[in-house]
Amino acid sequence: MVMRGSPLGRRIRQLSLPAAGSVKIKLLLCCCICFTLIALAGRASTFMGRKHRNGFSDRSSVPRKGYAILINTWKRNDLLKKSISHYISCSGLHSVHIVWSEPDPPSDYLVKCIDTIVRSESKGDRRIELKFDINKEDSLNNRFKEIKDLEADAVFSIDDDVIFPCSSVELAFDVWQSAPDTMVGFVPRMHWLDKSRNNMRHYGYGGWWSVWWMGQYSMVLSKAAFFHKKYLTMYTNEMPASVREYVARNRNCEDIAMSFLVANATGAPPVWVKGKIFEIGTTGISSLGGHNERRTKCVNRFATEYGKMPLVSTSMKVVDSRNTWFW
Ligand SMILES: *[C@@H]1O[C@H](CO)[C@@H](O)[C@H](O)[C@H]1NC(C)=O
Repeated sequence: MVMRGSPLGRRIRQLSLPAAGSVKIKLLLCCCICFTLIALAGRASTFMGRKHRNGFSDRSSVPRKGYAILINTWKRNDLLKKSISHYISCSGLHSVHIVWSEPDPPSDYLVKCIDTIVRSESKGDRRIELKFDINKEDSLNNRFKEIKDLEADAVFSIDDDVIFPCSSVELAFDVWQSAPDTMVGFVPRMHWLDKSRNNMRHYGYGGWWSVWWMGQYSMVLSKAAFFHKKYLTMYTNEMPASVREYVARNRNCEDIAMSFLVANATGAPPVWVKGKIFEIGTTGISSLGGHNERRTKCVNRFATEYGKMPLVSTSMKVVDSRNTWFW
């Protein structure tokens, strides 16, 4: 700089720099404080939103049919009790259906216990119905058996070892109501055309990492998903029996079968809703070795049964706008 050494230059620097500099620093500080405040406010509103939800979005004033929770359990009574105690506190829950596939029926003690839990939330005109669906044989197809006399159209299918906060469940239910033929869930999975085998179409199955990497999915797992109750009827009565047999024999992939069924019926992708997931159980089946190979086999087998690949990929993801403060 030419003026650097000159007295004028120095004067200008002395005059203007501290002023401009402090304004800039103040601006920066302001921005920092603002962002911190916004972030804190966001947190607080999420927190308060959960507590005082009924204050500003009174759902009970709108008559809605609600949803039935369809919970699959196997020899984990403590988890079952825990997750039912949680979900009955969610507004919109209409009934609880427990799919029981153990050789022994549930003990009187357990039934009484769960009945007490459910009844504790049935206040005023809110009556939550409780039903055990007891199966003699232990088949994965049990979880999608038709439920007779189900008042609600929506089924929220859930495993006993995962818990989602009510705000997530209600968001997913809202989405489902906008698209009642679609499967709406929290756990996305994907498939892709594996081009390595040229003659036959061979597909790959991708778990969480693949979805994260590709930003795409074509299934949502029934361990945490909403779907219309008509798909239960279709699963048992209209889906090719060979698919049900495959599921029962291999003790796997009932969720992929359900994804195929819905995709074939709608020709559309499912919807992935972002939800906070809390795993309360220990290890699930997906942590066993060889999991992805078995799932890949299922995808290819079902595609053969359908004579095409019904699954449709998408990159859409639904988020709760209250939790996103960058527009
Ligand atoms: C797929 O959907 C079509 C049209 O709805 C139906 O005719 C067909 O039976 C379905 N395929 C299977 C394997 O369920």
